[in-house]
Amino acid sequence: MKIALGITGGVAAYKAAELVRRLQQEKLDIQVVMTRAAREFITPLTFAALTGQKVITEMFGPPDAAAANVESAIEHIAVAQRIDLLLVAPATADILGKFAHGVADDFLSTLYLATKAPVIVAPAMNVNMWEHPATQANLALLRARGVHVADPDEGYLACGMTGAGRLAAIEAIAQKVCSVLGLRHDFEGQTVVVTAGPTCEDLDPVRFLTNRSSGKMGYALAEAAARRGARVVLVSGPTDLPVPEAVDWVPVRSTEEMRHAVRERAADANVVIMAAAVADYRPAAKQTQKLKRGDQPLTLELEPTPDILAELGRDAVQKTSRRTLVGFAAETRQLAESARSKLARKGADIIVANDVTQEGAGFDTDTNIVTLFLRDGREIPLPKLPKFDVANRVLDHVLEIQKTSR
Ligand code: C5P
Repeated sequence: MKIALGITGGVAAYKAAELVRRLQQEKLDIQVVMTRAAREFITPLTFAALTGQKVITEMFGPPDAAAANVESAIEHIAVAQRIDLLLVAPATADILGKFAHGVADDFLSTLYLATKAPVIVAPAMNVNMWEHPATQANLALLRARGVHVADPDEGYLACGMTGAGRLAAIEAIAQKVCSVLGLRHDFEGQTVVVTAGPTCEDLDPVRFLTNRSSGKMGYALAEAAARRGARVVLVSGPTDLPVPEAVDWVPVRSTEEMRHAVRERAADANVVIMAAAVADYRPAAKQTQKLKRGDQPLTLELEPTPDILAELGRDAVQKTSRRTLVGFAAETRQLAESARSKLARKGADIIVANDVTQEGAGFDTDTNIVTLFLRDGREIPLPKLPKFDVANRVLDHVLEIQKTSR
């Protein structure tokens, strides 16, 4: 799908760069249009580099290029017909006024009149300008004509004042774009519990056993499910990752804590995805005092941890739950054998298996190379993909399983 992103002259223009990045994750083709004032705040080069496309800045082009003038003068009609959506972020009071009153004195305002595509504006301005009756009346006119508005947030503004007028959160604008474009919201109404990260098993008050999991795969799953409309609970072991927006984040440390949080939240979940690298063993006895250094070899006694996934799997076998269960298998050898045996042993519907020794797979990378092992015997190898894309593929199969078992 193709959208035009109009950027107008407010301090928040710099945030448009991040918005472009976010919208590209939705596989949108973005044509950036900048007003003269916007170019005082940020250069077109930034957007040309991000989108790989020429940024439209002028209605008529440079005065000496007669041929180019004709081309750019009619370009707004071509762009107007090509786009599926016109988004203006940030939208100044000035552009709202022009849109509301049909003033067409630059490329963006002309594009607005020339397109039949839906329009979203994300206003950003000083609080007094925002609250001014002129601005509010213009917005009311635009709303009445079907223009969608990503309302500004309240907060600290660049002018030093506090109040309404701050550009809406990038994620909120992106969500608006998705909903106006009808991009998939196929997890609407579902609750998805995702676990992520490592667990830490304390040995004594200062030492613990853990693993190299970064949590990136689980966080990508949580974000992808939330974007597709699910209510997401993210039960996370210790990680450095930012919490995705619109996700109910439950931080935990040990396997026992994770088990407790998952069991409590899984009760009303439709899907549980265990992406966490949960410890398989923990110290049999936790020392209350720090272990002292000595001359003799030290043997640690470890005991198996409860297998959270297998416990949930047993509910399914006993038909007390119809949750879709997804487990992960990080292996360094015999990937397929281990994955198949985990499917059966843990009662999972899908095992996402990866060989963590492969370049571009496993811990602390932004990509992953996985094979999905499904209960019906299918094995689906995926190419090397960003973890966010892997997450979406996993979710696609969850939906497929839910449909066939209905
Ligand atoms: O047996 P293994 O640890 O390789 O299994 C990995 C899968 O099982 C992952 O989905 C992991 O989150 C889950 N697991 C669990 N509880 C454990 C160990 C692993 O739920 N104690």
